[in-house]
Amino acid sequence: MSVLLETRQLSKNFGEFRALDDVSIAVSEGELVSIIGPNGAGKTTLVNLLTGLLRPSAGEVLFMGRSIAGMGPGKLADRGLARSFQLIAVFPQLTVRDTIATALISRQGKRWQLFGRLAADAAIAARVREVAEMFGLSDRLATAAAALSQGEKKLLDVASAFALNPQVILLDEPTSGVSTADKHAIMQILIAAGRKAGVKAIVLVEHDMDLVAAYSSRIIALSAGKMLADLPPKEFFSDAQLIAAVVGKRRQH
Ligand SMILES: Nc1ncnc2c1ncn2[C@@H]1O[C@H](COP(=O)(O)OP(=O)(O)OP(=O)(O)O)[C@@H](O)[C@H]1O
Ligand SMILES: [Mg+2]
Repeated sequence: MSVLLETRQLSKNFGEFRALDDVSIAVSEGELVSIIGPNGAGKTTLVNLLTGLLRPSAGEVLFMGRSIAGMGPGKLADRGLARSFQLIAVFPQLTVRDTIATALISRQGKRWQLFGRLAADAAIAARVREVAEMFGLSDRLATAAAALSQGEKKLLDVASAFALNPQVILLDEPTSGVSTADKHAIMQILIAAGRKAGVKAIVLVEHDMDLVAAYSSRIIALSAGKMLADLPPKEFFSDAQLIAAVVGKRRQH
């Protein structure tokens, strides 16, 4: 299996504080890798480093075999690395249709300019419908984001990231703030969408151990910036000591 996303001895300091310490991971084609750990473990910091939003203090990140140093989130998105955010980034007044269209145009504006204006509009509209369909949002296209349920908002946030046909997608708590009953539905929708869209690997930050156990092919556990484990779910969940170390107290966002 070819490695798509990799870190080598990656560390990140904020001033004197080391938020991530010597983390080496690799994500290969076909995997759904969950990053878990208590609040403050460094999960979001790791995602921010993987997506070029933060620069490493030491070590490096490689996407499809190339260092991402100096690339920045925009260029990385163009190359096929997409993400959703832990805190929803959708604009409340925009409709579902405009939110997805904005994501498409903001990253691929130049490409659309190669078409005539009308052809570009038609192509964007078609892609928006296709993405909305994948995420069960077809009948919400004209609805303002503010009027969506929390679960639908999370799906819209992920749908915007999917609009760009990514190779790899990073999801920071895609089900946070959603009722337990809806969490599985959301996970199933986004895994099915990933398969349909040809996404090659998913990296998931998740606190809910039911979801982690149900959907991960591998689990990477962080605590206080250090990597404690990198294991298949079966092995991880049979190690009581490890579980106790990793499944810390929850702080609500
Ligand atoms: N920009 C920053 N400046 C200073 N400290 C930061 C910054 N970003 C994160 N930290 C600190 O780094 C540590 C790791 O934060 P991070 O957000 O990566 O944790 P997390 O595992 O995502 O936690 P949560 O489960 O609460 O989302 C925390 O102690 C946090 O306070
Ligand atoms: Mg976080």
